[in-house]
Amino acid sequence: MQKTIIRVEHLTKIFPEIIAVDDISFDIYAGEIYSLLGPNGAGKTTTISMLSTLIKPSSGDATVAEHSILKDPISVRKTIGVVPQEIALYDSLTAQENLAFWGKMYDLYGKKLSQQSEKILHQVGLWDRRKDKVDTFSGGMKRRLNIGVGLLHNPKVLFMDEPTVGIDPQSRRNILDAVLDLNKNGMTIIYTTHYMEEAQELSDRVGIIDHGKLIANGTQDELTKMVGEHAALRLHVSETQSAETLAKQLEKQSFCIKASATDHQVLLMVDDPEKVLPSVITTCNEFNYRIRSVDIEEPNLESVFLHLTGRALRD
Ligand SMILES: Nc1ncnc2c1ncn2[C@@H]1O[C@H](COP(=O)(O)OP(=O)(O)OP(=O)(O)O)[C@@H](O)[C@H]1O
Ligand SMILES: [Mg+2]
Repeated sequence: MQKTIIRVEHLTKIFPEIIAVDDISFDIYAGEIYSLLGPNGAGKTTTISMLSTLIKPSSGDATVAEHSILKDPISVRKTIGVVPQEIALYDSLTAQENLAFWGKMYDLYGKKLSQQSEKILHQVGLWDRRKDKVDTFSGGMKRRLNIGVGLLHNPKVLFMDEPTVGIDPQSRRNILDAVLDLNKNGMTIIYTTHYMEEAQELSDRVGIIDHGKLIANGTQDELTKMVGEHAALRLHVSETQSAETLAKQLEKQSFCIKASATDHQVLLMVDDPEKVLPSVITTCNEFNYRIRSVDIEEPNLESVFLHLTGRALRD
């Protein structure tokens, strides 16, 4: 039996112009990495902000380690660490000074603070740069220190909101390894992302969020089973031609269940990829499209999203 550490019940946030989070309910189990996967504006940050007690829900409730976010936000805050999407650091302070500043917010002083700060600087790979001001740091280093702040009071549960956006591959790898490492040592992690590959690599379970609604929730196996027997064909289109227009033409064909364009690619959901491939190529030729290459993909989180919404995750 899995032990529930976070229970979300009918959580809703209504802003004047938009329902950002629309009546979502799900559980997160102790010790797992749970990814909230969804495109820009889906409601990920709003959900994290409510669960971490930064903003109040319009309705619904949630418990974190059995403390209600409405009735006992102080106990919730003691249990959690938060790595916000927007970096929250002081540029004119050094790495070490930033940790000391934020440590005081968590009631950490003296020896406990310096021990914890040392441990974290090693953990995020910034020990050698601890005496340098943050304004001399690269984007990836800032992101790593931002994560360090979230870890200061050794939380049981860590919320990470898109921690790898806009950084180089090496820093990204470093962050993903840190997430896996923290989790191995028992931390429950809630990780938001719009990168299918990250959710795929990290997650025990995934919630897919779109337009404020949780449209799927489960292990990756459970989610990919929703796509059924279909598989995806990924067509790499010449960079001078519009993938969107081709996707629209292909979607009209009987062999195509769904089609969507991203960058210079078209993702097609079909029943039997090997069988329909010749017809796909013929159709592309008819419309004078040059296909550079084709991949046949087993159902993955991206095809689950396409299956459920008719759109690609990065539309
Ligand atoms: N304070 C606010 N006031 C009004 N609308 C808001 C506010 N915060 C968020 N929204 C809106 O709510 C919706 C969900 O936003 P949210 O930031 O939760 O999305 P997200 O999934 O985190 O997106 P991203 O991947 O771009 O960070 C968006 O339409 C956004 O414009
Ligand atoms: Mg966000």
